Amino acid sequence: MQIVFGIDFGTTNSALSVYRNGAVEVVAVETGESGGELMRSVLYFSEDNGIHAGSEAIRQYVEEGATGRFMQSIKTFLPNSSFVTTELFGRRYGIDDLITIILKKIKARGELHVGCPVESVVLGRPVLFSTDPAKDALAQQRLESAARKAGFRNIWFQYEPVAAALAFEETLPPGEERTVFIGDFGGGTSDFSIIRVKGGEFARPDRRSDILSLGGLYVAGDKFDSQIMWDKVAQHFGRHARYKSMGKEEWVTVPKSITYTLCQWHRIPQLRARKTREQIRAMKGTTDDLRAMEQLENIIDDNFGFFLFRSIEQAKCELSHQEESLISFTERDLCINEELTRGEFEAINGANFTQIAECIDGVIARSGLAPDQIDTVFLTGGTSRIPHIQALFARRFGLEKLENRDAFTSVVHGLGSSAPLFV
Ligand SMILES: Nc1ncnc2c1ncn2[C@@H]1O[C@H](COP(=O)(O)OP(=O)(O)OP(=O)(O)O)[C@@H](O)[C@H]1O
Ligand SMILES: [Mg+2]
Repeated sequence: MQIVFGIDFGTTNSALSVYRNGAVEVVAVETGESGGELMRSVLYFSEDNGIHAGSEAIRQYVEEGATGRFMQSIKTFLPNSSFVTTELFGRRYGIDDLITIILKKIKARGELHVGCPVESVVLGRPVLFSTDPAKDALAQQRLESAARKAGFRNIWFQYEPVAAALAFEETLPPGEERTVFIGDFGGGTSDFSIIRVKGGEFARPDRRSDILSLGGLYVAGDKFDSQIMWDKVAQHFGRHARYKSMGKEEWVTVPKSITYTLCQWHRIPQLRARKTREQIRAMKGTTDDLRAMEQLENIIDDNFGFFLFRSIEQAKCELSHQEESLISFTERDLCINEELTRGEFEAINGANFTQIAECIDGVIARSGLAPDQIDTVFLTGGTSRIPHIQALFARRFGLEKLENRDAFTSVVHGLGSSAPLFV
């Protein structure tokens, strides 16, 4: 009996499915209180050389008072050719080594579930890791290498929005045909496909001719969080602070190279470089906002970016079902309480929404279909819950065509359903 795992290694969350005996099931990857189908795609390296993944990483990070190194949005680094290795407590890790840690843990959970070793896996990949073909290829190679190091021998890739389409297809009555626009809005990327599906067609081998169009961009949940950080929170960390550089009389603002980096929280550790620290120390000497500059030092040293961004993310998610929320964060003498309305969230993310809308229109245009020839819009991924994202589709296709289901597991389910296409 051939058993194949489907693994959705996501920017924010990862999940596992098992294909065996012609059926697919989504398997819990976490136990305990957070228990369930999703594992946060995060790592924590303790000072004592312990390495933790998922909820265990978060727990350990909190317990140890953030003395080690916490990493998230690792998938985002895959196409980055300048990221070769990183040194953590005296050991060098390639990006594939980091991902291997997460994949190993998921594999072990799955093997415990099925009761035997499993060497075959279908991995999801975004439509575009990068618009540069060389970087895109590098990203997939690295992901493949991570799976190999985790112990898989047969490794196949499926586009994430195609996987979501297969999951949707399984919900259709036999024989029912539809042309579907799939929108998968995650943490790192938004991925689209227009694809023909037919109920009861599970396991039809080659689906390439059903895919009418593909597209994607790296504007998704993380970008929205960064934008909130920039517009609503960064002033607490020196966005508007000014200083006088050595021997000069005029005021200058803190370099964007520092304040922008702060908005991509997975890059905050880069600010620990000695040169940057010295630069900040020098600015502190003459600044007109000493408090903000001290907070800037604190967020870099204490690494509380994770908790800060968690507050930001929470406020964003609340706006999906309410009109207003509060970004609330307290750390020592820092107390942030910023109100955020849905209207304001949409306004500050205007450029991000425009990019998404343009990409959607491109995908429709390349399919050669008019919007009224598309029967259903199937939205999945955590970010698809944002009302404005739904509105983008309602405007183009009509509200009645929208279907939302299983925001977090349709991709992984479809990866499992992809197994018969390969084995
Ligand atoms: N209710 C909500 N409203 C708005 N955003 C949400 C909501 N719930 C989750 N999110 C966002 O969804 C994202 C995570 O979604 P998901 O798990 O689908 O992403 P992923 O698969 O890890 O990422 P990717 O597919 O880009 O690799 C996060 O950015 C999270 O903040
Ligand atoms: Mg995803």
